[in-house]
Amino acid sequence: MRVLLVYAHPLRDSLNAKIKEVAEAGLATAGHDVDVIDLYEDEFDPVLSHNERRTYFEPKFERENLAEDYAQRLMDSDGLVFVFPTWSMGPPAILKGFFDRVFGPDVSFRIDDNGTLHPNLRHIVKAAAIVTYGRERPILWWFGDPPRRMIKRWLKWFLAPKARVLFLGLYKLHKPDDAKTDKFLSKVRRTMANF
Ligand SMILES: Cc1cc2nc3c(=O)[nH]c(=O)nc-3n(C[C@H](O)[C@H](O)[C@H](O)COP(=O)(O)O)c2cc1C
Repeated sequence: MRVLLVYAHPLRDSLNAKIKEVAEAGLATAGHDVDVIDLYEDEFDPVLSHNERRTYFEPKFERENLAEDYAQRLMDSDGLVFVFPTWSMGPPAILKGFFDRVFGPDVSFRIDDNGTLHPNLRHIVKAAAIVTYGRERPILWWFGDPPRRMIKRWLKWFLAPKARVLFLGLYKLHKPDDAKTDKFLSKVRRTMANF
């Protein structure tokens, strides 16, 4: 399978950097062809431009620069993996902007003449998100765990009808626990090696 791994963290020595490395290695073990988008490394601009917003609902949404290249790579993949930390109860802005600028008309969905939306990533049969949190899971539960919902409900809608969508969350990193983190990394390795 060709798997697109989208990674959003600025620091090379972060836990997320380690998770990305482990996930990539696991996917390679599984024999997948892995295409990595490192949004910070690419200095991706997350801001939907004036022209992009103007053309968004026009017959041709004019994605600019990297967004067009990313859209092509998304259309060429059959698996999708995200690695990111939770910031302000959502994905980092750079990843939110990836969704704003890359996901959109003629890539993640199509709009018919009646204004009805149709999913358009039906070629993606498997997806996963590996997400870290500072806060504890019960607090996230109270907030509705927006990153989890975004992946399990919003993202899932665009994919193949029977696509498997996995969510691996590591909570409570404000009180780090090395043994728990190591266990989580093993789980990431195992899950990606079976992806
Ligand atoms: C700008 C910023 C906002 C954050 N907001 C949240 C939040 O809303 N909820 C939460 O659980 N953790 C939050 N955190 C904590 C991060 O999720 C946590 O530091 C990260 O997952 C740890 O991974 P890392 O060491 O690879 O950065 C925030 C951290 C930063 C830097």
